[in-house]
Amino acid sequence: MPEQKSTGRRAAFVTGASYGIGEATALALARDGFDVAVSATRLENLSTVVTKLEAIGTRVAPVALDLRAQSSIEQATAQVISALGRVDVLVNNAGVTLRRLALEITAAEWDAVIQTNLTGTFFMTQQVARHLVESGRPGCVINIASTHGLVGLATRSAYGISKAAIIHMTRMLAIEWADHGIRVNAIAPGRVETGSPARAASLADPKYREAMLNRVPLHRFCTSEEVAGAACYLASPLAATITGQTLILDGGLTSY
Ligand SMILES: NC(=O)c1ccc[n+]([C@@H]2O[C@H](COP(=O)([O-])OP(=O)(O)OC[C@H]3O[C@@H](n4cnc5c(N)ncnc54)[C@H](OP(=O)(O)O)[C@@H]3O)[C@@H](O)[C@H]2O)c1
Repeated sequence: MPEQKSTGRRAAFVTGASYGIGEATALALARDGFDVAVSATRLENLSTVVTKLEAIGTRVAPVALDLRAQSSIEQATAQVISALGRVDVLVNNAGVTLRRLALEITAAEWDAVIQTNLTGTFFMTQQVARHLVESGRPGCVINIASTHGLVGLATRSAYGISKAAIIHMTRMLAIEWADHGIRVNAIAPGRVETGSPARAASLADPKYREAMLNRVPLHRFCTSEEVAGAACYLASPLAATITGQTLILDGGLTSY
């Protein structure tokens, strides 16, 4: 199809932007000139990122979103479009992790991971893609996957399986939506040192930290800002021919 040009001020929707990678990505996209919508399961969790976004001078739309509920996905998308008038870039960052031996995972734990990281992410993407197709504008979806979706690691099966599926969803939707000018890509970070309350605890254990670092050829973790930089690149016109790809930010971990 002929290349479509998007006019006007563009808007990005970053899910799960209360901490870490989501917050850094929302701020980076705002600095790149996007109006930015941000979500968390509870609106009050967004107060810090909203203050930071307002300081940049961008138009901000904070919304509550629970990816486990279709009604919440539809409502959040409608709120974002109503507040910002459009969505050009969707960053599917919201996700939950689970560190549990496969022999011990319960059905409820499995469902929580798959519903949030896979099912909810798919239908979130569908909502924004429908908006883009209806508006006739090109767009861009960026899925935050993980190296756990590429290589195996004990205790990460449910999480890794959900991220592997997201990586393949990226390819499937890239093909199906190419004719609409919608690019779909993923970023697969290795361990990211985000300072997020949910994940900081494990890295505080020096033995665990050293064990994780020893698996990484470059012997360093990724930062939230580095993931945000990759997302900004994928959202930019410089990435106009990139679709269906997974950009791996892992210090060489998956290159062994
Ligand atoms: N940190 C890492 O080492 C790492 C490595 C590779 C990939 N990743 C991926 O990167 C993404 C962000 O990770 P992070 O560590 O920066 O995040 P995080 O601190 O764990 O925050 C996750 C975000 O997702 C939101 N969220 C949780 N459950 C949700 C649900 N059911 N519906 C909608 N939103 C929900 C949270 O909202 P609330 O504030 O309301 O809880 C929060 O904003 C995730 O997809 C993760 O799998 C992380």
